[in-house]
Amino acid sequence: GKVRAPTHIISTISDDRGEEPCYAGVPMSTIVEKGMGIGDICVMLCADHGPCVSGAHNTIVTARAGKDLVSSLVSGLLTIGPRFGGAVDDAARYFKDAYDRKLSPYEFVESMKKKGIRVPGIGHRIKRGDNRDKRVELLQLFARTHFPSTKYMEYAVEVEAYTLSKANNLVMNVDGAIGTLFLDLLAGSGMFTKQEIDEIVAIGYLNGLFVLARSIGLIGHTFDQKRLKQPLYRHPWEDVLYTK
Ligand code: ACO
Ligand code: LMR
Repeated sequence: GKVRAPTHIISTISDDRGEEPCYAGVPMSTIVEKGMGIGDICVMLCADHGPCVSGAHNTIVTARAGKDLVSSLVSGLLTIGPRFGGAVDDAARYFKDAYDRKLSPYEFVESMKKKGIRVPGIGHRIKRGDNRDKRVELLQLFARTHFPSTKYMEYAVEVEAYTLSKANNLVMNVDGAIGTLFLDLLAGSGMFTKQEIDEIVAIGYLNGLFVLARSIGLIGHTFDQKRLKQPLYRHPWEDVLYTK
């Protein structure tokens, strides 16, 4: 029989040995021809959100300190976490758990409050009930038009209605929209068992989408500052409250 030397690396995501590279066994041309991938829309919508957000701010300060592209990029990426852009996986986890346990929005939100945990995917620094996040609306429209089921996303909309009744800043944010939308994609595709979906959600892949997308904006901000020959950034004294 065949003698196979033990390998040092196992990889399941891509293979470049053939004539055409494959992603998870699917040839690249098939992906292009069939226009596969909801990921595209998330990447486009999350690529940037202006110079004032945490990530872009760090990147701009770093670029203006004369650092190189990679340093400026990672400086911005390092802000992605539970408050900023990195709440997608937790949103998927908590919303899935609440929906599957048939918790009403009231029961879900109030149980989180009791535990002292902010609902991931809810809340925004500048978006409000009367000034919704356009990205969330676009994602919802896309899902309602193309997905076989949007049960998790619609549940998140009900949760948002409840949180908005508590405070006007507690809107669904992009992390919440992407998290619940991917739950619907996984559950509606018919490709995964319940157990596999639980495993996928437990491991957590979705923050990666935000990281990937926002890298585009952060690279843009780095080059923008360099092109504009911006000097070293120093925060103005007037904007600091000095107390003893
Ligand atoms: N769930 C429950 N209550 C909340 C939430 C939430 N997600 N967000 C805010 N509140 C309430 C709390 O009562 C909070 O008081 P507390 O500090 O005693 O907990 C009160 O609103 C005031 O909150 P602020 O701190 O003023 O809200 P801020 O505007 O600073 O926070 C933020 C915005 C960080 C996004 C917050 O809403 C949050 O933590 N959300 C959950 C994490 C999340 O989804 N992050 C992704 C944001 S989108 C993005 O970054 C691309
Ligand atoms: C973003 O996409 O960066 C945001 O939603 C966060 C923000 O503060 O606008």
